[in-house]
Amino acid sequence: MNRQFPHAMLPRPGHDEQARQDFVHDYKVHVLSGLGPRQRQVFDQHATPAFEKTHGHAPRSRREINTAMTPQPTWKMWSALNRTGQELMWAAISDTAFRDRERLVDQARRIRRRDEGRGSLRIDPALAVPRYISAVDIHLQPGGYGLVLDEDDVYAGALYDLSAHHYSLGGLNPMGSDPGDSTVLFLRENYPQFRPRRILDIGCTVGASTLPLADAFPDAEVIGIDVAETFVRYADARSKSLGRAVHFAHMNAERTDFPGGHFDLVVSHLFFHETSAKAVRNVMKEARRLLAPGGLMLHSDVPEANQFHPEPFDQWWRDWTTHYNAEPFRATLRDTSLVQAAVNSGFESSQVYETKIPSAAAAATYKKTHGYGAEWHMVVAAHGGQSGSAI
Ligand SMILES: C[S@@+](CC[C@H](N)C(=O)[O-])C[C@H]1O[C@@H](n2cnc3c(N)ncnc32)[C@H](O)[C@@H]1O
Repeated sequence: MNRQFPHAMLPRPGHDEQARQDFVHDYKVHVLSGLGPRQRQVFDQHATPAFEKTHGHAPRSRREINTAMTPQPTWKMWSALNRTGQELMWAAISDTAFRDRERLVDQARRIRRRDEGRGSLRIDPALAVPRYISAVDIHLQPGGYGLVLDEDDVYAGALYDLSAHHYSLGGLNPMGSDPGDSTVLFLRENYPQFRPRRILDIGCTVGASTLPLADAFPDAEVIGIDVAETFVRYADARSKSLGRAVHFAHMNAERTDFPGGHFDLVVSHLFFHETSAKAVRNVMKEARRLLAPGGLMLHSDVPEANQFHPEPFDQWWRDWTTHYNAEPFRATLRDTSLVQAAVNSGFESSQVYETKIPSAAAAATYKKTHGYGAEWHMVVAAHGGQSGSAI
């Protein structure tokens, strides 16, 4: 397993904590890549014949497959093992992050004082966390994204940073920046002349995907926003500690306070699947408002849209995380067209498309264990003329 880059804000595991985290990694690999693919045999050899007996036909949709698979003991066992792996992961990394939290709060304060003026941090004490975030511990993160323990808290940010590495089994690369790196690669290949002056990263979390944009466009002003307070506070300290000058703001992407036409590039990574149908509409509309003529909007997410996976079994397989891993909107998003949502928000339909883009990391582990390859689903919309090759 590749190790996470030990930047100054990362919680530091002790020896036994590291051993436990390594165990969880191996456990997850075994359950996902060792036992996971065998569920196809359970479907073909047991679930399908049983379903045919009662329904007179083989399961045809992901919902019928769910009906057929739910009673299967091997599937139940696998599902329990997979859920347990996720809970073990959180237990292991939250022990480390919680034990280390006071040192990290001090560290963030020190970094902010030392590097004042390199980037900025804006916290809005009045900002309400939307219900699709506050009501759910997304993919079982204890306390959820909105957790704030104390003044200047960074705990949930530190926990997320650790989890992104462990949840992806190291597949996002040591900086967790693969979504952002892949977006930069996509821009280089398809819009080589594009030089944005202001960039907005929506749902930036700890800034892992924001920093590659700052590196790729060193003359641009880069702003990351997130609705979770400790995430942007942590992102600011993390970014400063890594020598970057990025601005972070605690803000709801459905209603920002930036003026219209402020950005040439608006992006998000792994964002929409953790929101809601209403938020998709609002954020698309807001992104369209914020985009300057000639600008680009790029949304990259998990590559699991139905059009990429026409096989009902594949679609059903991807529903696991909605049923058992507290990602309620993820399966619904698969039935939602983000292209249509972009058009509805005011983009010309000839200026919007979606595609799969390759992952910048040679994420072999990710590909093997998650089974859907090292790639991302990208929705692209241009505001007016764009000189890139893709539109
Ligand atoms: C899976 S994380 C994104 C990961 C990150 N973009 C990366 O590439 O590392 C989704 C993020 O979106 C944030 N978020 C959800 N709804 C939001 C909203 N309406 N406005 C701003 N941020 C939001 C969440 O708090 C969370 O940090």
